[in-house]
Amino acid sequence: MEQNATPETISREAAHEAGPPRTVSRKVFVKTYGCQMNVYDSQRMADALAAEGYVPTEAMEEADLVLLNTCHIREKAAEKVYSELGRIRQLKEARARQGRETVIGVAGCVAQAEGHEILRRAPAVDLVIGPQTYHRLPSVVARARRGQKVVETDYAVEDKFEHLPAPGKRAVRSRGVTAFLTVQEGCDKFCTFCVVPYTRGAEVSRPVAQIVAEAERLAAAGVRELTLLGQNVNAWHGEGADGREWGLGELLFRLAEVPGIERLRYTTSHPRDMDDALIAAHRDLPKLMPYLHLPVQAGSDRILKAMNRRHTAEEYLRLIDRIRAARPDIAMSGDFIVGFPGETEEDFEQTMRIVRAVGYAQAFSFKYSARPGTPGAEMEEQVPEAVKDARLQRLQALLSEQQQAFAQGLVGATIDLLLEKPGRQAGQLVGRSPWLQPVVVDEKAGAIGDIVRVRVERAGPNSLFAVPVPGSGLGRDGASALGEEHA
Ligand code: SAH
Ligand code: SF4
Ligand code: F3S
Repeated sequence: MEQNATPETISREAAHEAGPPRTVSRKVFVKTYGCQMNVYDSQRMADALAAEGYVPTEAMEEADLVLLNTCHIREKAAEKVYSELGRIRQLKEARARQGRETVIGVAGCVAQAEGHEILRRAPAVDLVIGPQTYHRLPSVVARARRGQKVVETDYAVEDKFEHLPAPGKRAVRSRGVTAFLTVQEGCDKFCTFCVVPYTRGAEVSRPVAQIVAEAERLAAAGVRELTLLGQNVNAWHGEGADGREWGLGELLFRLAEVPGIERLRYTTSHPRDMDDALIAAHRDLPKLMPYLHLPVQAGSDRILKAMNRRHTAEEYLRLIDRIRAARPDIAMSGDFIVGFPGETEEDFEQTMRIVRAVGYAQAFSFKYSARPGTPGAEMEEQVPEAVKDARLQRLQALLSEQQQAFAQGLVGATIDLLLEKPGRQAGQLVGRSPWLQPVVVDEKAGAIGDIVRVRVERAGPNSLFAVPVPGSGLGRDGASALGEEHA
């Protein structure tokens, strides 16, 4: 069977497992912006650097290497990076006065989109590396340490996943019992507002054997829940173990067989790629959690067309009917954009209509941000900022009402909860409900990594509070004590 660790990466990893290498170890601080894929990429970059003797630190001022893993999705996200770089430059100067060198690196989607421009705007930066070239990170860092300014923003020609060292057991354990696993990267959809097809390149699916091998490694290190990631995760396809062409539905069935993996999720899906096999997985695969992030962006057919989403509002609603027929308790989540160029009051009302028709358990909504190089930025009839603000407020009020109603509807329900980490207050543990809300229980409910049966007692603004169900055999001793509300 194909492995995702080459002999070289295995021996490097072994060196890492054996503790810090003989040479003096250096420290790396990684700050992550943007989506879950950036979180995953940051972990893989830390893994690659660990093999070179870099130890992660939470304190930026201690770091010999500061890496910002950036997001370009909206103007604000990109601008944040430059203000942060201003602060880091001062830090670099302060460390230099103490005779310590600091290498500053910019990775992620701003790196890909802006390349050399970053060095021009922020000359303290030493290296710029786009998401397609992370497998070259160790050599790029080594060149930067020798005083070169390095910009690596080629689109990948080789398989970058194959070249990234697999995470070591210790690193996986430190990250907890839930993990991300990228199965697909890039986007060919070209929605007219979006930079992702330019920053992440064309759609690429990882081969089944690589994905399964990584899932097995994660499970062996204690991971119990996997979230499969992709910019269009349900566009994933590949040759299955049976020689047939698989889609995400078949892949989920295969991953459910990995010993130790008890829960599966995936994100983000595009409505155009929700096929029958994936819908069937929601019906037939108990390990697949009943939660689906399926962005629609807008409710007006005119705007959907201008956005190049390639489906109508009605088609989206019928799709959700089919998904709910397969899995009646599924919680829907989505993304919305208000103020896309040309959006009228009537168009916006159609967005409100679709939200009312679906009833979302969770949603993310944004004001349209014109991004350089995208068709939307060139469109006439840009919507004034004040109009966007007002629409966003109305939309968010409705979405938050729905979110609260969904959470309240769970009070009294009995659920199986994967305990993930200590809560904010002593004596508490936190996990996620099948529908992804944080659930707080008393620490006596079980140990981190256990799946315990609990009853929801109360819904706060951001979390549910639950008590173990006595005698379920899943909890430890059925002790019940309600935690305090999160601040
Ligand atoms: N691949 C995912 C989304 C990636 S970006 C998908 O196709 O759904 C995450 C969200 O950011 C998008 O769903 C969209 O709602 C929002 N977004 C993307 N570009 C934006 C822009 N230019 N302005 C405002 N919001 C944007
Ligand atoms: Fe962006 Fe559209 Fe691709 Fe999602 S499907 S990443 S919104 S271009
Ligand atoms: Fe941002 Fe890039 Fe993710 S633009 S949302 S970090 S794919």
